[in-house]
Amino acid sequence: MNTAKKTDLSVERYTITAALPYTNGPVHIGHLAGVYVPADIYARYQRLKGNDVLYVCGSDEHGVPITIKAKKEGITPQQVVDKYHAIIKKSFEDFGISFDNYSRTSSKIHHETASEFFKKLYDNGKFIEETNQQLYDEEANQFLADRFVLGTCPKCGFEESYGDQCENCGTSHNATDLINPKSAITGNTPSLKETKHWYLPLDQYQDWLREWIVEGHAKDWKPNVLGQVKSWLDDGLRPRAVTRDLDWGIPVPVKGGEGKVLYVWFDAPIGYISSTKEWASREGKEWEPYWKDKNTKLLHFIGKDNIVFHCIIFPSMLKAEGSYILPENVPANEFLNLEGNKLSTSKNWAVWLHEYLEDFPDKQDVLRYALTANAPETKDNDFTWKDFQARNNNELVAIFGNFINRVLVLTHKYYEGEVPAAGDLTEVDEATLMMLKKYPQIISRSIERYRFREALMELMNLARLGNKYLADEEPWKQIKDNPERVKTIMCIALQIATGLSVLSEPFLPFTSKKLKTILNVSSSDFSEKNLIENTWNDVSTKTTLLPAGHQIAKAELLFAKIEDDEIQRQLDKLALTKKANETEHKKIEPQKETIEFEDFTKLDIRIGTILEAVKVPKTKKLLQLKVDVGIDVRTIVSGIAESFSPDAIIGQKVTVLVNLSPRKLRGVESQGMILMTETPEGKLAFVEPVINNLENGLIIS
Ligand code: 2FM
Ligand code: ZN
Repeated sequence: MNTAKKTDLSVERYTITAALPYTNGPVHIGHLAGVYVPADIYARYQRLKGNDVLYVCGSDEHGVPITIKAKKEGITPQQVVDKYHAIIKKSFEDFGISFDNYSRTSSKIHHETASEFFKKLYDNGKFIEETNQQLYDEEANQFLADRFVLGTCPKCGFEESYGDQCENCGTSHNATDLINPKSAITGNTPSLKETKHWYLPLDQYQDWLREWIVEGHAKDWKPNVLGQVKSWLDDGLRPRAVTRDLDWGIPVPVKGGEGKVLYVWFDAPIGYISSTKEWASREGKEWEPYWKDKNTKLLHFIGKDNIVFHCIIFPSMLKAEGSYILPENVPANEFLNLEGNKLSTSKNWAVWLHEYLEDFPDKQDVLRYALTANAPETKDNDFTWKDFQARNNNELVAIFGNFINRVLVLTHKYYEGEVPAAGDLTEVDEATLMMLKKYPQIISRSIERYRFREALMELMNLARLGNKYLADEEPWKQIKDNPERVKTIMCIALQIATGLSVLSEPFLPFTSKKLKTILNVSSSDFSEKNLIENTWNDVSTKTTLLPAGHQIAKAELLFAKIEDDEIQRQLDKLALTKKANETEHKKIEPQKETIEFEDFTKLDIRIGTILEAVKVPKTKKLLQLKVDVGIDVRTIVSGIAESFSPDAIIGQKVTVLVNLSPRKLRGVESQGMILMTETPEGKLAFVEPVINNLENGLIIS
């Protein structure tokens, strides 16, 4: 894959990394959309431009999530990572993610590389060694690092922040910063116990980081990335421990480090380097130029929760080491949601890649397309199955597929598959060919600014251009009376089809390959046996991409319509997951303490009718009601606004506790309480009196 084609000095070297996925579960559409597809588009594009590209990744096999998963499944951490490494690696291959190397952090080369890195920083006095008190679970007999501890985030107040990072606001902190910490193993409140660790003094890199990123990259880094970086720098950086008291990880390779391991976020990014080394030794290449030559462009593709690690911590590590280049850019994406809810491995709220392929075999490009067209580039986005279906049916089938199919079918029908020679060109022909030549630059401009949605839209505009050209020129109407003109039209349409086969490769690699096979031109996989080979730039510069007299192969459809029942099956599957989650998470409140009959008789419960209802301003939940309770009409404030609209409950019969002491809610005195209950589905419902012979205002008891 790593085959630079330019021969001159203009070959640029790119080291492209994609975040190493944790090996505690399979990968889903969120992973693909956020990291691996955009990075793959970029890598494929740079290869097509003839540049020297190394695209690396691997499994992140250390860290607490793996240990927790192992404990849960009653197997060893090694068994966990072996299982998921294989599944993840296969999913990436199946979706055409064109890594030059996919490694794993449990490999020997990674352990050696990370240990050496740590040792060098240690030897050069780059760490602070500190003994202090850390959270400890007496019952589990272990220190509570990272995900082993949950507590309230000191920054945003989220109550389930992890020890090292809050998933709600993205802040990265030390476990001892958490408010009300609780052990994730036993649920106990931890005690404090002394232990020694090594810290990277990030505060010492603060000014340098500000100058390098905030001042140096203000124009070329994405606003979401710059925003996060600025906010951390403004808050002030503090030393970060890079070792942990855990037994799963890379042993700390210095004296006093016995029984301790490297912090997973210290070793994981070094995984990019060890993956490069693994690739180089397999391919008989040098690894250093990809990490140490200042002309190499290093790019980290990540999700937004990884920004601090790739823009602050890892660059500080590289700077401390001294011999490495720094990233040219860190194009982080926001998150993808699924049908309105956050993707979640633990709640099984996901479209798993391996399951998708069982349901939609050979539709890898459809998912790549839908995820790119709707990529969370500037804000969180939602994946819906309806959108997926529409993207396929209305765009891939109706625009791209339709154009190619018309061209192929007509070429076979009129010329038995032989490319006709063009005659004299009309103004429209010239303009159409000129537009085709502009597309490589148009698409490049978007890709090079990491705007992959925009780039994909431009690719589709080229297919639209082809459709419009055929629709306007109507070769099917002219074939009888003007066969010479039709040869020109079809020749031009075939040039557009060939252009699409080249320019679609980064986005739709399977389709591009299929189309190249049908057009009988080379793709990177069978370049030797074919003579016609077009690079990205050739689409702009060559006069003819597909010469007259060239024979194309049998026509085949590139895309097929996705029917409603296929989509409904996916929606049903999600509905089942939702139901299972609700049942699992539904807390059944235990019965409260028994009360005496005398206690009950103190309650004055009456039947009332709601006469008026308005929302209490600036609140989400409260409605202010006027209720006729038989003895008077009174004001009651009730927290039901999220379940009932004011208009819908006028005239509603309700059960009211009338002798509850009045109390003020948001400045309004509430004189009683409407009794409510929950349906088995968890919906709020009125305790509705069934009125038989009773009159309004009668005591029920
Ligand atoms: O967030 C994650 O899934 C991490 N495993 C990413 C690691 S990226 C890197 F630095 F290796
Ligand atoms: Zn937070």
